[in-house]
Amino acid sequence: MKKNATVILRMEKMAQGGDAISHLEDGRICFVAGALSGELAEVVLTQNKKDYAKGFAQKILESSAERVTPACPLYGKCGGCSLEHASFAFQLEMYRSAVEELFRRFAKTELPAGWKIHSGNPYGYRNRARLVRAGNGYGFRENQSHRIIPISHCKILSPALNRFLADGKFPKVEEISLFDNGKGKVSYFYKGMRESEFQKFAQNTVQINDVKISMDSACFFQSNLEVLPELVNAVVESAGSGNYLIDLFSGVGFFASILQKNFKRIVTVEREEKALVHANQNVPSAKNISSPAEEWLLQNDASGADVLIVDPPRTGLPPSALDAIVQAKPEKLLYISCDPATLARDFRKFSESGFSIVRAEGFAFYPQTPHFEMFLELCAKSNLEIL
Ligand SMILES: C[S@@+](CC[C@H](N)C(=O)[O-])C[C@H]1O[C@@H](n2cnc3c(N)ncnc32)[C@H](O)[C@@H]1O
Repeated sequence: MKKNATVILRMEKMAQGGDAISHLEDGRICFVAGALSGELAEVVLTQNKKDYAKGFAQKILESSAERVTPACPLYGKCGGCSLEHASFAFQLEMYRSAVEELFRRFAKTELPAGWKIHSGNPYGYRNRARLVRAGNGYGFRENQSHRIIPISHCKILSPALNRFLADGKFPKVEEISLFDNGKGKVSYFYKGMRESEFQKFAQNTVQINDVKISMDSACFFQSNLEVLPELVNAVVESAGSGNYLIDLFSGVGFFASILQKNFKRIVTVEREEKALVHANQNVPSAKNISSPAEEWLLQNDASGADVLIVDPPRTGLPPSALDAIVQAKPEKLLYISCDPATLARDFRKFSESGFSIVRAEGFAFYPQTPHFEMFLELCAKSNLEIL
């Protein structure tokens, strides 16, 4: 069958990336963008590989009751919200079944029955954005291309970020990172910013529960401030208190700053050097280290940690970091993940080394997109037996 051929397909279920899964007549799996499970669609094939095909739904012939009209005029064009054609309730169920399937497939594990998914507003939630220059204004990069789609308003951005965009009272540079602290202050960063401008315009503070956290728009910070306190509460509850806390992939010392009163000794490890100034401010009693976590783990013994937190980027844990954590066997391992696929892959190795799941929770940090946040509390089996 040729690329660009049109076929009629029945969608069976949803894949983790937000495409629907179907099968071609020859038995190959076909991933279909813009369709929902149960639907019958006319599909244009865009990739035709030996083992699988990909396409997009050109026409929905039988529609799901969960289909909704996308709220954004840029749906299907900008790189962002590929799930806008599904109701939010459907999206939440999709996250649940996609994560469960990943754990079954990659880790031969069932998540605890009834594991909770926390959610907030399906729109207007995003407090962080990176925009590129488009004429006199800004835009997002088009899906799978380098073209830039100008935007004057984005439905998933927070009202403060949309107001800031509409005002346009910030420099016209090639790329800009915006951050809304949820309390009326929008900060921004662009490459080549002078130090005096950086101090004036990039710095920000976020309050989570009763803790004030210093950050700037060049650093990583979580992007859904409405649901974030629920993740923080889960981490605080699971961490409890103790002697020694290690927070790896710590950004501005985020989790350590909230947990600092509960632990006597704290180490944070973050690769980005520019986050260190904030970590020293946010967790002044800790040893804050700027290093790749895998290198720090090779040179330091993490075995005495009561709680070890890891919050890696989408790529998951570097293999040598994972091996070192398995060797160290911390009392409690708290794994925060923004990609359930790499989480399930890493969990398989933890599980083979005797770790099991004590707690699993999901967080709909990125509605309208297939991205999803997970939190796992893990315990080495020998530790579990002592409890
Ligand atoms: C998902 S963010 C989490 C940051 C922080 N825990 C928070 O909640 O704000 C991942 C962080 O890991 C950092 N990072 C990426 N690779 C790393 C590595 N190999 N070692 C240490 N930090 C790394 C990134 O710079 C980023 O700050």
